[in-house]
Amino acid sequence: MTTDFSARAIKNDLGTTVMGCRVRLFAKTKSTMDVARRMAESGAAEGTLVIADAQTAGRGRFNRPWASPPGTNLTFSIVLRSSPELLRIVNMAATVALVRCIRDVTGLSATAKWPNDVRIGGKKVCGVLMEGVLGSSSTNSSRKEREQDRYAVLGIGLNVNYDPTPVLKHPAEATSLATELGRVVSRLDVLKAFLRTFDVLYRTLDAGGSLYEEWRSCLDTLGQHVRVHWGNQIEEGVASDVDHNGDLILRRDDGSTVFLNAGEVTLQL
Ligand code: BTN
Repeated sequence: MTTDFSARAIKNDLGTTVMGCRVRLFAKTKSTMDVARRMAESGAAEGTLVIADAQTAGRGRFNRPWASPPGTNLTFSIVLRSSPELLRIVNMAATVALVRCIRDVTGLSATAKWPNDVRIGGKKVCGVLMEGVLGSSSTNSSRKEREQDRYAVLGIGLNVNYDPTPVLKHPAEATSLATELGRVVSRLDVLKAFLRTFDVLYRTLDAGGSLYEEWRSCLDTLGQHVRVHWGNQIEEGVASDVDHNGDLILRRDDGSTVFLNAGEVTLQL
């Protein structure tokens, strides 16, 4: 297994059209989300990959800290530029690409907990964070200017070789690919498999195709009784389905239905 984890090794023979077109690899940075956002604001091309061996202030959804020991896992962000409609559902492409790349590189079967945690045997192996600016819709600015303003940053933290079990308060909650397989896994192989698959799926969405059925079939949440935290509110009920926008359809215990947006809620199974 190659241990060369360099920008050159990542780009070598990658063969994608967009994803990883430019690679910035940091030994250490605060958060790849912030670096990617700054690069996007100064015009970085779609597909620019910002990856770090260590983050000193990695963050997850709702600003929760994201911890990952140096040199063990994958922590990266990608600059995306597209229509608001595509950016709204791009998490479907990311989740499906993660499930497929884990299967293809390791043979492990992963599922997704809505909205976009990736899990193996019910334990979280990967988290996805989307942050973005959808840009101005002003009719005074040209289409090109609007596309330039509009970007999103997709952030992914994937536990590859770090065994989180001993340090967790609740060891049943997280895992890594190496923990599941009992051997070291190549970060480079996993990253490149992800970039290649994501590249294809992103173009599928861009061309008007749908990933809804495959994304839905990855979800291990449907049919389960769940508790959803939503600001100060708590909703309980059965996660009955997801719609084409990626919203969760919750059937409350009183029989009524509510549509939940991924950006606003946390979900407990
Ligand atoms: C979550 O499950 O809450 C999402 C976790 C996302 C973590 C990744 S690691 C790379 C990128 N940089 C960050 O600071 N966060 C994301």
